[in-house]
Amino acid sequence: MHGFSYKQGSLHCEDVDLNELAATYGTPLYVYSGGTIIDHFRRLDEALSGVAHEIAYAVKANSNLSVLRLLAAQGAGFDIVSGGELFRVLKAGGNPAHCTFAGVGKTRAEITYALQQGIYSFNVESEEELRYLNQVAGELGVVAPAAVRVNPNIDAKTHKYISTGKSENKFGVDFEAIPDLYERASLDLPNINLRGLQMHIGSQLTSIAPFIEAVEKVTPLVRQLKQRHGIEFWSIGGGIGIVYQDSLESGAAAWWQDRPAGDQPLTIERYGMELVPRLKDLGLKILLEPGRYIVGNAGVLLTRCLYEKKGLAKTFKIVDAGMNDLIRPALYEGHHDIVPLIQPATDARVVVDVVGPICESGDFFCQGRALPDFQPGDCVALMSAGAYGFAMASNYNSRPLPAEVLVEGGTSRLVRRRQDLDALIEGEA
Ligand code: LLP
Repeated sequence: MHGFSYKQGSLHCEDVDLNELAATYGTPLYVYSGGTIIDHFRRLDEALSGVAHEIAYAVKANSNLSVLRLLAAQGAGFDIVSGGELFRVLKAGGNPAHCTFAGVGKTRAEITYALQQGIYSFNVESEEELRYLNQVAGELGVVAPAAVRVNPNIDAKTHKYISTGKSENKFGVDFEAIPDLYERASLDLPNINLRGLQMHIGSQLTSIAPFIEAVEKVTPLVRQLKQRHGIEFWSIGGGIGIVYQDSLESGAAAWWQDRPAGDQPLTIERYGMELVPRLKDLGLKILLEPGRYIVGNAGVLLTRCLYEKKGLAKTFKIVDAGMNDLIRPALYEGHHDIVPLIQPATDARVVVDVVGPICESGDFFCQGRALPDFQPGDCVALMSAGAYGFAMASNYNSRPLPAEVLVEGGTSRLVRRRQDLDALIEGEA
């Protein structure tokens, strides 16, 4: 399911007209399809039904309280990377006993907070961190549940900034060093309960091969740790890629069909079909940490065209959203389809750059792309912006953060109001 399509010539999110939302709440505006989020969660749950598992949604992808609340109601656990994310999960009614805490640089304050709340596991990224966790837990008189993140040294074949499973990345502990680390920890660290193993090789993986390679490489290690240390879970991380190109429903199918023969698309069904048989006999609980797959295609960023500027070399469509609102094109050369809210009457296209108002040449949403000839005053949707969109937004150029709306069927709700100018300077002297 996808949630965005033209109805009577107007782009809708489920049954709500996006033109109306743009008029009511202004732009730039993030809009999320609640139905799509729930559908994706359920489809992943179903695809993994052949093995004992739990889905810990990666909060970093989209941490709006209402999104978290939707997922908590579905029974999701949460993968967090900061005290702030834990705070959000608790506010949204999430159960800390189903939270895992990832990241290479947890602070004492964060560790203390998470211990007090009783999270399920700290996913630890170095021996130094494990020893520190042992110390802090000892001071509090508790035992810290933990898993070490293994770095399997596998190429996820994704953008270099979101590739995490190679030895040169800062993440995890080298594959070869894990058995000794678990031995030492079980002897030396009385305040640690090593209850699992974790891995995550990267984000936006569009092929199943690296997942299979990682699972097959790490399986013997997992068996060994289960036998010697009685671990109970294996988190295989997140990273399931989504379709960014031709993201309107009909287009997505076409894009998959265009792939070279033999290179089968990474659908969620395929993910389950390939991985479940490899995991189901381990006798462990399998954890998943998907972020993008759950929310990526469930959100759009609406923006209005302010000006058209025709230069000697190029035509620029200048819109009211900037890289501060959606940084993915600037940071990862990320592609987001750009779709007019009013369905174009013809197939005519013009080749343009769509750019924002920020004082940086990297402030673009596309360059040299053939698009319908939308005009100043018209609104467009930057598609597939539900993951790492608002979550990475900033106040750069002193631009207030955009508003967010959640759609469920025919109803829409403002789930974060637009920041105003006073909020922009709050806390400053
Ligand atoms: N688990 C861990 C330990 C992670 O580091 C991440 C993402 C996930 C799970 C969730 O990965 P996902 O299922 O969403 O691929 N801002 C970038 C993506 C950064 C991903 C960081 N870690 C982007 O916009 O492409």
